Amino acid sequence: MPPSYAHVVTALRSAGCVFAEDEARLILSAARTPAELTVMVDRRVAGLPLEHVLGWAEFRGLRIAVEPGVFVPRRRTEFLVEQAVALATEAPVVVDLCCGSGAVGAALAAALPGAELHAADVDPAAVRCARRNVGAGARVHEGDLFEALPRALRGRIGILAANVPYVPTGEVGLLPPEARDHEPLVALDGGGDGLDVLRRVAGEAPRWLAPGGSLLVETSERQAGLAVEILADAGLIPRLEVSEELYANVVIGLKGS
Ligand SMILES: C[S@@+](CC[C@H](N)C(=O)[O-])C[C@H]1O[C@@H](n2cnc3c(N)ncnc32)[C@H](O)[C@@H]1O
Repeated sequence: MPPSYAHVVTALRSAGCVFAEDEARLILSAARTPAELTVMVDRRVAGLPLEHVLGWAEFRGLRIAVEPGVFVPRRRTEFLVEQAVALATEAPVVVDLCCGSGAVGAALAAALPGAELHAADVDPAAVRCARRNVGAGARVHEGDLFEALPRALRGRIGILAANVPYVPTGEVGLLPPEARDHEPLVALDGGGDGLDVLRRVAGEAPRWLAPGGSLLVETSERQAGLAVEILADAGLIPRLEVSEELYANVVIGLKGS
């Protein structure tokens, strides 16, 4: 007999799921057969992130496919998208660098219908997943940061969204097991102070941005001040935007005209 709603809730609650009722409803509606339901509940009980169990995450009202081993887009990153949309001019060139599942790019494409969208990641699993999410009109590239991008984009990017890994190496072990055990280290580890990848992106961004274009990066509250300095040192005009509601910090670097 397939597990009932009550059984699923009990199993999830005893595994420590805080939102057991909501998760049970989602899993029950996603499972196509009783056997699949049992497998999904077992996976969640074993600690797999809910999004990996379901195969998707909700992001800015979109259903984003998230494959095993790919970073689960976080709700707080919706704030970065909101900031980017506010900055976009008509028909902008948009790049989602370090795209993971491509959630940021997909959300930007949905909000900016005239945009030319490129996304890129170093991890082949992320690239495969992003290709499912960003839409047929977008291009997804594989490689190390800007090396992945077509040279023709140099000096043309209006919105450069880069949700890079920013967890300090020494703090990766302190993350919840869902992240630590099921998301790749390359998606989390930002080096000693967490800002190594951000430094590399900031250093190269001015060559790739169009005049008046902006780089947007997410940081922790603690890192935000230093990230502002890094963007300024790279020659960008920096500012910090904070969402108390989403607990999100976005540092924006404008390339002067
Ligand atoms: C924090 S995740 C963010 C993913 C996605 N942008 C999001 O917000 O859901 C960081 C991503 O950066 C990618 N990454 C890390 N180092 C990279 C590099 N040197 N070049 C390109 N991508 C990189 C990882 O593979 C991972 O997908």
